[in-house]
Amino acid sequence: MAILVLHGPNLNLLGTRQPEIYGATTLAQINEDLGKLAADRGHKLECFQSNHEGALVDRIQAARSDGTRFIIINPAAYTHTSVAIRDALAAVDLPFIEVHLSNIHRREAFRHHSYMSELAVGVICGLGPAGYRYALDQACEHLARPQA
Ligand code: DQA
Repeated sequence: MAILVLHGPNLNLLGTRQPEIYGATTLAQINEDLGKLAADRGHKLECFQSNHEGALVDRIQAARSDGTRFIIINPAAYTHTSVAIRDALAAVDLPFIEVHLSNIHRREAFRHHSYMSELAVGVICGLGPAGYRYALDQACEHLARPQA
């Protein structure tokens, strides 16, 4: 069963982007780590990053018919602005976990609101790259349930 990991704008710069906030791990390292963990659990995993809202909406829409069973998404700045990504997630009606590397609730007020959280199975923030691993673990548990 396939798990889709979506990364929003500027996450391609992880490793060099404000390391005091986002850490030193690169996106390639995060994706490689998740790929190995998923394979160990017998799941296919695909990662997709884009700096463009429409590209993320298109990828979410495609998930409706490409075998995706679960989405892990860090919408990055679009978390706080994008009704379009929220609507796409609602439209495909796939379970998803929202991940943020930083604790958005300890940061500027404009980062405290997420358009996605209300629809998510769960939200993980402030735990750095480990947050993605915890999300993957939960995704695998979710997919192992008989009704999933
Ligand atoms: C982020 C938090 C967002 O507020 C920010 O715009 C990002 C990354 C995080 O992972 O901590 O780009 O989603």
